[in-house]
Amino acid sequence: MFGFSSTSKRILVSGIQATGKLHFGNYFGAMKQNIDLANSGEFTPYIFIADYHALTTVKDREALRQSALEIAAAYIACGLDTSRAILFRQSFVPQHTELAWVLNNVVTMPYLMRAHAYKDHEAKDKEVNVGLFDYPVLMAADILMYQADVVPVGQDQKQHIEYARDIAGFYNRAWNVEQFKLPKDLILETVAIVPGIDGQKMSKSKGNVISLFGTDEEVRKAVMSVVTDSKAPSEKKDPDTNNVYAIHKLFLTNAEDAELRRRFEQGGYGYKEAKEALLAAIMKWREGKKALFDDLMQHPEKIERILEEGGRKARKQAEETMKAVRTQVGLQ
Ligand code: ADP
Ligand code: TRP
Repeated sequence: MFGFSSTSKRILVSGIQATGKLHFGNYFGAMKQNIDLANSGEFTPYIFIADYHALTTVKDREALRQSALEIAAAYIACGLDTSRAILFRQSFVPQHTELAWVLNNVVTMPYLMRAHAYKDHEAKDKEVNVGLFDYPVLMAADILMYQADVVPVGQDQKQHIEYARDIAGFYNRAWNVEQFKLPKDLILETVAIVPGIDGQKMSKSKGNVISLFGTDEEVRKAVMSVVTDSKAPSEKKDPDTNNVYAIHKLFLTNAEDAELRRRFEQGGYGYKEAKEALLAAIMKWREGKKALFDDLMQHPEKIERILEEGGRKARKQAEETMKAVRTQVGLQ
């Protein structure tokens, strides 16, 4: 039945649940791949802001709205072709939560208790709300709703994709149907972990980020505080244990990368100079993008128009899936 034969293109589904200011970890770890794949013309891309998921941790309505707008503005400013990609807010398509509810009935508690994210929270002695416990089921609904072929996520999301695959099977077997395709080969192994200014994984919770669209001054301050060893400018430096290099290389072509490695390795290239070069690379990256981002944030109605149009398209597809599901399980 797999219902989507009318479109020959493979389906790409990706959600981003950023809950705060976006940083270069978000960009190089998630957004860039999504944009490149979506713009390639090889897929029908569904890209959404996972605001139902964000609700599991955010209890501030203005912050939730603001971060949804920022993610959308950032995707547009970073070049997502919205004439091709279906960009929307998850909550514009309530069918996601409806499908999650149906799927909840084929998933057991012990199965969800094995989820890494749940176990991490438990280990930290945090009270886990039911939404957070159910996070993998909602994510499975996001993916299965559109019969995704490709879900470009990093390693940290691998288990969630396996859960989506399992849950598709649980559903099909429970109602003896072939509604959901078991998604395969969905992980982009190449997605790297972007280090923060202290060398640990860049993450807003660690306060070690370089912000994508913060002020020039914020970016400068972050770059100048990248942690390094205390080698003098004249000394030779190993690029592979060097945090300034690890961040800078993300912005470079292969040839530029080789040149930067050579400079560190031969000595005579101090960290101060290296940081100035990194800052220049970031400022070059921001050229045009930052102005577009700021303009969109000052005119949120422009963003909302795009999100609404994407939402309408997504909702149409989601409603088709839900019509089939409701019939299969005996709901109206
Ligand atoms: P944070 O760690 O700052 O809270 P989120 O968890 O909101 O970031 O991440 C949103 C997306 O960005 C996820 O897809 C995540 O995999 C990706 N991401 C975040 N930080 C990094 C990083 N340092 N390296 C690679 N990807 C990252
Ligand atoms: N859990 C994902 C993250 O933290 C966000 C997400 C929600 C997602 N639903 C999705 C990603 C569906 C891919 C597909 O990055």
